[in-house]
Amino acid sequence: MAKLSVRDIDVKGKRVLVRVDFNVPTEEVDGAQRITDDTRIVESLPTINALREKGAKVILAAHFGRPKGKVNPKYSLAVVAERLSKLINAPVAFATDTVGESAKVTVAALKDGEVALLENVRFQAEEEANDPEFSKKLASLADIYVNDAFGAAHRAHSSTAGVAKFLPIAAQGLLMEKELKYLIDELATPDRPFVVILGGSKVSSKITVIKSLLEKADTILIGGAMAYTFYLALGYPVGKSLVEADKVDLAKEILAYAKEKGVKFLLPVDSVETQEFKAGAKTQISALNSVSEGWAGVDIGPETIKLYTAEIASAGTVLWNGPVGIFEIAEFATGTKTVGQAVADSKAKSIVGGGDSVTAVKQFGLAPKMTFISTGGGASLELLEGRELPGVAALTNK
Ligand code: 3PG
Repeated sequence: MAKLSVRDIDVKGKRVLVRVDFNVPTEEVDGAQRITDDTRIVESLPTINALREKGAKVILAAHFGRPKGKVNPKYSLAVVAERLSKLINAPVAFATDTVGESAKVTVAALKDGEVALLENVRFQAEEEANDPEFSKKLASLADIYVNDAFGAAHRAHSSTAGVAKFLPIAAQGLLMEKELKYLIDELATPDRPFVVILGGSKVSSKITVIKSLLEKADTILIGGAMAYTFYLALGYPVGKSLVEADKVDLAKEILAYAKEKGVKFLLPVDSVETQEFKAGAKTQISALNSVSEGWAGVDIGPETIKLYTAEIASAGTVLWNGPVGIFEIAEFATGTKTVGQAVADSKAKSIVGGGDSVTAVKQFGLAPKMTFISTGGGASLELLEGRELPGVAALTNK
């Protein structure tokens, strides 16, 4: 069911509560938090600016970290208010609480086109409990609700879902719209061949996503430690690679289902092996379809790179979720870097969904060459699993 969009509504003079995902990575410098990647704030700007231009009073709500329902200065959004103010080149009024006196006074002082940011919604235990009373208090600050927090849309919390019930209009923001366009619409009718690169360490965390993608993809390229659980299922030697021995039957089931569906399901034919999971470790290339005794597979090998990059080069659409090796360590990063480069160079529509592959794409400077990079980690994974996200379900139907 299509959802109402912020484009469809009249917001002039209205107080609009916008849930954004400002859960950005930070580091501590001289006792203060410093934002290390502001992508999520930047990606929220189209909605914020559109609302300002249309004369709305913009009230932003967000979570930051996991403070577990308690006020914790380390997770204060004050640092985000400051960055946002620079990005929009306008003041951002910061409320030092979420629904208390400060929030009420801050919102009451807003003029059309102005922006306020409420303190971390997760300083209140009621937020994650999706407490109706708390949702009502949030709603009482505004006339209209907009959800642009795709990255948190898999959470059924007060500010992501509950609040929608207490306002007459609950619309999706422009980032939310873009995320759903690429991760649902584009993948429902992909340009073919549709090639999926799936990495990560565990079959168990990707099982539902694999099953769901077997319904749509032409080719699935498996990387990461997950590959070695499939090796076990096929009786190939795994050395001391990270495996989930209790998931072998599941792996067998997936291999059989891929065959039944006629999906080309490729596993690494060789691996970069190591005896130590650390920078500077000695590595060697494994024999075909096997990891040496006493060694662990930590990246795809050169023959696999050839195989995978050829598939990517001829793809119409590529979806990438999960690195194919431990790319954080230089000695084990070649596979992920080369596969990423192949995606960037291909003419295919390239969609990068999910936490670690996004980090890899940025680390290797490939982001500008991708068609779309999701801002969601868990949210994009749940969407790719075919699940409905509570933050989307709660919105007003078009
Ligand atoms: C994320 O960083 O993936 C989202 O902001 C959701 O955060 P959470 O996993 O703490 O709910």
